[in-house]
Amino acid sequence: MNHFEYIDGVLHAEGVSISEMADKVGTPFFCYSTATLERHYNVYADAFEGLDATVCFAVKANSNQAVLKTLGNLGAGADVVSVGEMRRALRAGIDPAKIIFSGVGKADAEMREALDADIAQINVESIPELVELNRVAIEMGKKARIALRINPHVDAKTHEKIATGKAENKFGIDWTRAIEVYRDAAAMDGIEVTGIAMHIGSQLTDLTPFREAFTRLAGLVEQLREEGIHIRNLDLGGGLGIAYQGETPPLPDAYGQMVRETVGHLGCHITLEPGRLIAGNAGIMVSRVMYIKDGEAKRFVILDAAMNDLIRPTLYSAYHEIIPVDEQGEDDVQATVDVVGPVCETGDTFGKDRKLPDDLKAGDLVAVMSAGAYGAVMSSTYNTRALTPEVLVKGNNFAIVRPRQEIDQLINMDQIPAWLGNE
Ligand code: LLP
Repeated sequence: MNHFEYIDGVLHAEGVSISEMADKVGTPFFCYSTATLERHYNVYADAFEGLDATVCFAVKANSNQAVLKTLGNLGAGADVVSVGEMRRALRAGIDPAKIIFSGVGKADAEMREALDADIAQINVESIPELVELNRVAIEMGKKARIALRINPHVDAKTHEKIATGKAENKFGIDWTRAIEVYRDAAAMDGIEVTGIAMHIGSQLTDLTPFREAFTRLAGLVEQLREEGIHIRNLDLGGGLGIAYQGETPPLPDAYGQMVRETVGHLGCHITLEPGRLIAGNAGIMVSRVMYIKDGEAKRFVILDAAMNDLIRPTLYSAYHEIIPVDEQGEDDVQATVDVVGPVCETGDTFGKDRKLPDDLKAGDLVAVMSAGAYGAVMSSTYNTRALTPEVLVKGNNFAIVRPRQEIDQLINMDQIPAWLGNE
């Protein structure tokens, strides 16, 4: 459920008209709904009631500090994958004791900053990284609390670019080698083994792969106990999918039930790292139609947003629903159109053969739905297009939570070496 609805014929985010917001902010922009973020967080967190669990929002999905603070105020922790994300989470007031540092390769400086901040746990993904973390921790006179991320060799049955739990994926330590690496870790002076971590992929719409992976994880925990290595934190990653185009992913409650069934008996603390599920349908991208172009074969609706703002359609062939901000009447004629951006690539297409009002014209607004996760965070300045603003709505109010970047700010970052002359 989300809080983007037509009220009196105009799309609103909670109580705020998208059209009025567009007049004030300019287009394109990302718009997030507080009530939707809160609802998603609460529904997810409630699914683990009775378990000793912490929900650490995957900051990579949406790292705006206003979003992080909204979730932090509800008790969320953060799953971060870079020192930049960690600083954002800390600045947004997230308790370091609820911050997990994941990721395939952490630099020394990142390890140092994480150890200094005394975050809950660093998830280590390879033996060389473990050795390095041990070295850094000893040098700092500390012990690093770690989990090993284990690759369970499970096919998450999702888009190949976001599947992470198969043997051929770069992630984690093969589950077949887990015990020996844990033994090594337990013997290291700078390392304190606290957990085990898994994340098998993103946008999963079926519980089966999760169940398979977590069953494997439970087996490992028991084997480790026999070895005298006590795991107290199970980090189950994120990955639960959302509806982009009528998919019916399992509800958080069913996921919670499956977690209870697979690992509930182990008596461990559980960490969850949802990203998309919390933020995906809590955000939209609003864009204005620049031109309608009737080509030989197709009608193109050319937006002022482009692939640099929202890369998911071209990168993953992802589907995002596109709707007009002015509600269409039931009897209004629809046209079949390709919705595209102005960037000079054929891949700059938000949707093919979409139904939009036949009378949609330049100056009208459209909303690209489900853009709250992996939207603004993945944007770039390709074609020297400035980063798009982000707006957070709460009830009848909204605030710009990242202003539009000035094109000159971007251009001024270039430095011309003296040998080229600098007039
Ligand atoms: N934990 C770890 C270790 C992860 O790598 C990820 C996502 C998550 C949690 C959160 O997963 P979620 O709950 O959001 O599925 N850019 C892609 C998605 C990449 C996901 C990467 N890892 C997209 O736009 O679909």
